[in-house]
Amino acid sequence: MYNAFFGFAQNPFNMSPDPAFLFRSSQHEEALANLIYGVQSRKGFVVLSGEVGTGKTTMLECLRDFLTAQQIAFASLFNSRLTVEQFFELLAYDLDLRCNRLSKTEVLLSLNNMLLERAAAGRTTVLIVDEAHNLEWDVMEEIRLLGNLENRRGKLLQIVLSGQQELDRKLEAPEFRQLKQRIALRCTLHGFDPAAAAAYINSRMARAGLRNQTVISPQLIEEIHFRSQGIPRLINAICDNLLLTAFALEIHTATVEMLDEVTADMRLDYPGPRAFHPEPAYSERVLRQSKVPHRAD
Ligand SMILES: Nc1ncnc2c1ncn2[C@@H]1O[C@H](COP(=O)(O)OP(=O)(O)OP(=O)(O)O)[C@@H](O)[C@H]1O
Ligand SMILES: [Mg+2]
Repeated sequence: MYNAFFGFAQNPFNMSPDPAFLFRSSQHEEALANLIYGVQSRKGFVVLSGEVGTGKTTMLECLRDFLTAQQIAFASLFNSRLTVEQFFELLAYDLDLRCNRLSKTEVLLSLNNMLLERAAAGRTTVLIVDEAHNLEWDVMEEIRLLGNLENRRGKLLQIVLSGQQELDRKLEAPEFRQLKQRIALRCTLHGFDPAAAAAYINSRMARAGLRNQTVISPQLIEEIHFRSQGIPRLINAICDNLLLTAFALEIHTATVEMLDEVTADMRLDYPGPRAFHPEPAYSERVLRQSKVPHRAD
C-alpha cells in the first residue's frame, strides 16, 4: 500500500520466510553453515531451535534452496501435528517413493532401498522437520529409528529437526535420551542485538529498493530494537505498521509518537525500566493479540 509513497519496489517487511530478503547476521550465517555442514558430512541428526519468530523457517528455506541447487533429495515436513501413518505417507510422497504410501511396511522397505541405492552412488538424502516441538512421541520415535539406518560409511538419512525452545526441553526428557545422544550438531537462534537489528532493518529496506533510507532514524531503530527484543518477526510487524501509519499521515519520516501508537495497538508489552525476560512464545502472543492489521505468515 505504501510502497510507491516511500519508493519501495516491493514490500520490505513482508512476514513470509523469503530467502530473497535473507539478512546474513552472524548467528543466522552460523546456523545455516551448521545445517549445511551437518547434512553434507552425514552427521545424522542436526537440531535448530530458537524463540518464536527468530528465523528458523527462513533458515530451512535457505537449506532447501541449497539442497535443490546441489540436487540432493529431501523430504520436508512443515506440519508436525501428524500421526505415524500420516508421517510415513508424507515422507513417501515427498521422496516420490513408488509403493503403497498408506502401508508403513511398504514405505519403510521402499525408503530403505532408495537410501541404500543413493548412498552407494555417494548421494545424500535429507529429512527436514519444521515445528518439531509439536511432534508426538511416537512420531519422534519413528524419526529416531530412521536416523539409525546406516551403512559402513555413515548415516543413510540426514535429519534436520527445527522447533521452538520446547524442542530443547523435550529432548531433555528421559524418553528422548536416545535421540538426544544421536544429535551431532545443535544451534539456537536468539533476538538480534541493537547493531544487528539496525543492519537488519536497513538491509530489508535496501533490498526492497530504498538504499540509505531516512524514513526510520537510527534512534527510532534503537527504540524498535528495545520494544521488539530484537525478534525479527516483531521488528517486521512494527516497521510495517510504522510505515503504514506514516503513509496514512503523508509524512516521510517516522516518529516516536507513531511508534508509540503502533506498539500500543499491538499491545506490545515491552520492557520498562526493570529487566524484561519475555517468555518463549512472547512474539507469537503479541501478534495474536494485536488488533493492527499485519500480514500473516
Ligand atoms: N536472517 C533473516 N533475514 C531476513 N528475514 C528474517 C531473518 N530472520 C527472520 N526473518 C524474518 O522474520 C520473520 C520470522 O521468521 P521465521 O518465520 O523464519 O521465524 P521462525 O523462527 O520460524 O518462527 P516460528 O517459531 O513462529 O516458527 C519472517 O518474516 C522472516 O522473513
Ligand atoms: Mg517457523
